[in-house]
Amino acid sequence: MNKENLHQKKIGVLGGGQLGRMLNLAASNLGFHLHFLDKEIDFPVGLVSSNLSTGDFTNKEDVLTFGQNMDILTIEIENVNTEALRELQASGIKVFPQPKIIDLIKDKGLQKMFYEKQDLPTSEFKIYENNQAIKKAINENKIAIPFVQKARTEGYDGKGVLVVKKKSDLEKLFTSPSLIEPLVDIKKELAVIVARNESGDIETYPTVDMVFDQEANLVDYLQCPAVISKEVDQKCQMIAVDLAKKLDLVGLLAIEFFLTNSGEVLINEMAPRTHNSGHLSMNTCVTSQFEQHLRSILNLPLGSTEVIQPGIMVNLLGEKDYTGPARYSFIHSLLELPGVHAHIYGKKISKPKRKMGHINIVGKDPDKLKETLTQVKKLIP
Ligand SMILES: Nc1ncnc2c1ncn2[C@@H]1O[C@H](COP(=O)(O)OP(=O)(O)O)[C@@H](O)[C@H]1O
Ligand SMILES: [Mg+2]
Repeated sequence: MNKENLHQKKIGVLGGGQLGRMLNLAASNLGFHLHFLDKEIDFPVGLVSSNLSTGDFTNKEDVLTFGQNMDILTIEIENVNTEALRELQASGIKVFPQPKIIDLIKDKGLQKMFYEKQDLPTSEFKIYENNQAIKKAINENKIAIPFVQKARTEGYDGKGVLVVKKKSDLEKLFTSPSLIEPLVDIKKELAVIVARNESGDIETYPTVDMVFDQEANLVDYLQCPAVISKEVDQKCQMIAVDLAKKLDLVGLLAIEFFLTNSGEVLINEMAPRTHNSGHLSMNTCVTSQFEQHLRSILNLPLGSTEVIQPGIMVNLLGEKDYTGPARYSFIHSLLELPGVHAHIYGKKISKPKRKMGHINIVGKDPDKLKETLTQVKKLIP
């Protein structure tokens, strides 16, 4: 049992975006006061926490200065300076997820090599230094079109992913080090979040469906639990537990899967933190992913992930062709709908497709959920 006086500990978080904000709200409920590091005070966290240090979490000195005053450090984004985190860890500060896991996951090339080495199911891949090397490999018939190019680092929300379907797409190739995968024949995209604490306790969240908007290459909506066979569900859940153990994870890990048309389950990618695919847990599960993240890094008992009510989530994105003060004129009509919970991140400026919030719709009847989803989509930009 963890008998330390946890409420005396200083818990630091790198990143002050929406994930940090929701983590802070969950921490408040448990009586913890988190400290954050990010560039600007008016990032989403700034509005709900007064413990915000300004600085750059990609800068070694900034992370060291911030981190050395903490007892426990965690992240809400993986693009952080891990050299500093390694030093802080060596000096006795607890860093969860561990820097070695963050380093592995920051680089999609290393991620793929890890799956291969650990015999975990993922699509084939090849690694290239730059676009010229890819073009050369095409000329030598070592790569066939169609394929998918992924920048090894710093990609998110579809940025850093290029689907090459025809020769003329080659003009758009990223110049940075990247990996190439065959275009997978995707039936569904699924996700599982797994939590593990220092004692080694593990809990997985129910598998969710991520329904994609093909054009924007962004998630259209999420559904919990996923509409899949028991067999596919078990495969995803087992891989999640296996990954948590093989990584020696402390914290949360979100895993994205492809279910292929031939019934295979492949790991697409993972993130060592709270994740967009876990937002439904705030209203559908006994314990939200944010509370679970805190429980895992503080070595507290993990909470139940049982589904209380099924649900659907849509991201609230910034309006097309509008940049300016955020506006939510739909809020009254939105909250009139049954089972709707709005989670608005408090970003002051709206930009096209910027993640401004998310809407969780809960209810027992799947048909009703879809009906409400249609109504919600009519209201939001
Ligand atoms: N090999 C692939 N075959 C087909 N579609 C893919 C492949 N890799 C990625 N995609 C599509 O692109 C999306 C984004 O890719 P992903 O690797 O998850 O990058 P991101 O870090 O931007 O989420 C995926 O969710 C999927 O829809
Ligand atoms: Mg992804």
